[in-house]
Amino acid sequence: MADRKAQLTIDGLDAPVELPIYSGTTGPDVIDVRGLIDHGYFTYDPGFVSTASCESEITYIDGANGVLLHRGFPIEQLATHSNHTEMSYLLLNGEIPDKEAYETFRNSVSRHTMVHEQIVNFFKGFRRDAHPMAVLCGVAGALSAFYHDNLDITQEHDRQVSAIRLIAKMPTLAAMCYKYNIGQPFAYPRNDLDYAENFLYMMFSNPCEEYEINPVAAKAMDRIFMLHADHEQNASTSTVRLAGSTGANPFACISAGIAALWGPAHGGANEAVLNMLAEIGDESEENIQHFVDRAKDKQDAFRLMGFGHRVYRNFDPRARVMKETCDEVLEELGMGDDPQLKIAKRLEQIALEDDYFIERKLYPNVDFYSGIILRALGIPKNMFTVIFAVARTTGWISHWNEMITNGTRIGRPRQLYKGYTQRDYPDQQ
Ligand code: CMC
Repeated sequence: MADRKAQLTIDGLDAPVELPIYSGTTGPDVIDVRGLIDHGYFTYDPGFVSTASCESEITYIDGANGVLLHRGFPIEQLATHSNHTEMSYLLLNGEIPDKEAYETFRNSVSRHTMVHEQIVNFFKGFRRDAHPMAVLCGVAGALSAFYHDNLDITQEHDRQVSAIRLIAKMPTLAAMCYKYNIGQPFAYPRNDLDYAENFLYMMFSNPCEEYEINPVAAKAMDRIFMLHADHEQNASTSTVRLAGSTGANPFACISAGIAALWGPAHGGANEAVLNMLAEIGDESEENIQHFVDRAKDKQDAFRLMGFGHRVYRNFDPRARVMKETCDEVLEELGMGDDPQLKIAKRLEQIALEDDYFIERKLYPNVDFYSGIILRALGIPKNMFTVIFAVARTTGWISHWNEMITNGTRIGRPRQLYKGYTQRDYPDQQ
């Protein structure tokens, strides 16, 4: 229902165009421009800077104040009191589960962790040195070939089964990407372990010895999963929604999301941060300043990876929790003197006091410290974005489910055409 109306005056039109304005429960109001086409106009917003593409009840971000809420709950509270499994239930179903609902959901997820044995053959088709994100894009998309039994997306039951399958199987596929890469046998999931423990077990156990799960590592891993679980209509989630708007199956949509996540401007930034810290190399003041100067130089392609965000014009609340976790984990693992952590902290400090970053409101984002934690857990750089994909699967599938439940039209943007107008095919005789 429109609360107010905007009037758009356009040269050449007899009367202003009336556009309804809607209010959400919080956040900026939106102007409904759908009727503009009837007057012969499109809106133009490359990068979707001022465009709300859908209605959603899942996640809210107040970028100016550094607030992130999932189903109304602040991320700081969830990171402290919840766990990834409970958060997945919350994102998918809208409420924190009671004990019974939690156990049912947890059992359901753990019963779906194994993947069809034929999927092993998919891995064998890849080069061992392939980037794990390339492999993950392929095998996640291939899941639809194996789990075709519950793919009627008009049925709520089928959507739930697919959601559970995806949340459950992504850690298994991710760990398989790693094991394939290093030439070790795949480890089957263990359903007695919780989500993060099971992931660490599949990553680091081998048939030759007992693997003991470090509780500090498991807690940090679970927190990393929670901090990356959802983030409103970001590039990969919007990709999942766009793919889903065509009626494509959820496994295909998630595979599209994984591909979108891979870029360094999005989920690939965590790997890029560690590459940057390695490139910076030494922690001397002049050296770090040199790289900050390079990041400000428009002629230089170098940017401070893990800095800046389209929506946050203040501290990314996830980065705050991530930084605290980083300090705790490195301390507990006896790595408090880590040279890359020192470079990262000094780099952050210099950038936060620099006018270039202050004026543009550029702050560290979630990816700035996550890589340092992951590396301390023994996870190689090329797996960082894969882990982001495991975590974000819960957000992607929740948005996909919300969109299909609410009903959607195919996503089909238009353009400002700047090419040739009609011309005749040249006479080639
Ligand atoms: N280093 C140096 N300058 C920057 C940076 C940076 N990291 N980020 C933005 N700027 C400058 C940019 O050059 C522009 O300057 P000017 O106004 O003089 O032209 C201004 O700040 C505004 O930036 P923008 O590129 O228009 O902002 P955007 O909203 O289009 O892009 C971003 C956001 C996250 C892609 C960008 O800040 C960036 O590339 N950051 C580094 C990569 C990164 O850390 N990505 C992870 C994002 S958070 C997790 C996730 O989404 O997955």
